[in-house]
Amino acid sequence: MKHVIDIRDFELSDLDAIFKETDRMLADAPADALKGKILAALFYEPSTRTRLSFESAMHRLGGAVVGTENAGEFSSAAKGETLEDSIRVVSAYADAIVIRHPEAGSAARAAAVSGVPVINAGDGAGQHPTQALLDAYTIYRETGSLSGKKVTFVGDLKNGRTVRSLAYLLSKYEGLDLTLVSPKELAMGTDILDYLKEKGVKITETEELPGAMKEAEVVYQTRIQKERFPSEAEYLKFKGRYVITRALADTMREGAIIMHPLPRVDEITPDVDSSDHARYFEQARYGLYVRMALLRTLLG
Ligand code: CP
Repeated sequence: MKHVIDIRDFELSDLDAIFKETDRMLADAPADALKGKILAALFYEPSTRTRLSFESAMHRLGGAVVGTENAGEFSSAAKGETLEDSIRVVSAYADAIVIRHPEAGSAARAAAVSGVPVINAGDGAGQHPTQALLDAYTIYRETGSLSGKKVTFVGDLKNGRTVRSLAYLLSKYEGLDLTLVSPKELAMGTDILDYLKEKGVKITETEELPGAMKEAEVVYQTRIQKERFPSEAEYLKFKGRYVITRALADTMREGAIIMHPLPRVDEITPDVDSSDHARYFEQARYGLYVRMALLRTLLG
């Protein structure tokens, strides 16, 4: 594995190896495994979890990090440098590059000119493969398996890159039963629906959340992606459409879990945090160990 651009590139054996390595990182991470290695973090869009967990992962394994959290303003992109030229130069300074960029396809463009592994940390409405890895690890860790799962995705399924990547990943496992809850205008794209159907995934599309919550083993709530809407007025038409309240969470099956890639705005009320079903903060914590496992696999 050289670059991490599209989760579809991962075989089941790659996923299994990363999850086993993540188990090892959680149990006892080797503090000098990446000593002497440098990760360049280029973030052209805001991030809390992805950037800081990658940086923390590198430090915890004895490596170092260079980069900028506002690359559009604080790198030479502000002077008109192309992404390709920036990557050619940065790949001479670092052993791997993690990049978040507002344009779908940007990570693949970076990988095409990079001499070192490129990790896609979110390319517009494209993909977020390392989020899918940590999401899948959370399901495996918190429910015991990834096969035969009844999963409900909720919210902005048109613009959400985390649901795209996670759907691609979960479709690699047998017996996925997927319910998609969204307004019609924010439904999952036909390209990905066709892909999932070809893979034999059972798909149910609905605009009603309560019934889907009762049935699911995993509810994956998402934020309405404000930054992908043409105007505030368009965004406000959908904001607050699907809110998981404590009353709704209490209708879920025993052992069922609620996930969210975070950040949340208003789509899960704070009183759900203490529910037995809530797993979104554990999910963010696992992200650190999954990224340690990934960096060790790429660079170790
Ligand atoms: N889930 C996620 O990508 O969070 P950040 O935008 O904070 O990195």
